[in-house]
Amino acid sequence: MAVSSIAYKGWQIGHKTDEDIDPGIPYYSTASPELSDKAGLLIRKHACKDCHKLFFLNAITQNVPAPSLDGMGSLKEEAWFYEYFSAENPQEIIPSRLKPRFRMPSFASLPEEDRRTLAAYVASLKVEDWYLEETKKAAYEKLTGKDYNPDDVEK
Ligand code: HEC
Repeated sequence: MAVSSIAYKGWQIGHKTDEDIDPGIPYYSTASPELSDKAGLLIRKHACKDCHKLFFLNAITQNVPAPSLDGMGSLKEEAWFYEYFSAENPQEIIPSRLKPRFRMPSFASLPEEDRRTLAAYVASLKVEDWYLEETKKAAYEKLTGKDYNPDDVEK
């Protein structure tokens, strides 16, 4: 995909596509337009962007030190996201270092379809390989408040 987008660029001057927003940005989404639309509504409705960074929906400001959702789908599986969004107490899955009002809320009461849509969408948020370690590091440091040392982190 990266290769075809570079090859394309010469032909597409003046036509901005998703793929050439900025060639330096390593994040991309594999979501279909339908999934992006459905997930976008849920993400707005549940204010995920109050706490999480998410390039695809232009959320570049952030009040809470939650991990960025960009590239998250390269770190964990869709089934993991579904389980996390369905948990009555997400902090049993990932302990929080934050005050309660900043912590990941439970979305267990959402309809199953909404939880599946959110999980599928977050799983679609990928990062290019060259930026994967940076993404892991940033997520780890947000979650733990500690410096990332690849030797301490199980892969
Ligand atoms: C009140 C702030 C807040 C809101 C709103 C929120 N989150 Fe979170 N989220 C967090 C925090 C903080 C964490 C890290 C765990 C913790 O401290 O509870 C987290 C963790 C996560 C993780 C796991 C991150 C990782 O590194 O494994 C995912 C995925 C996630 N949230 C997605 C979402 C989605 C999708 C929404 C909206 C439906 C959302 N969050 C809404 C604060 C929030």
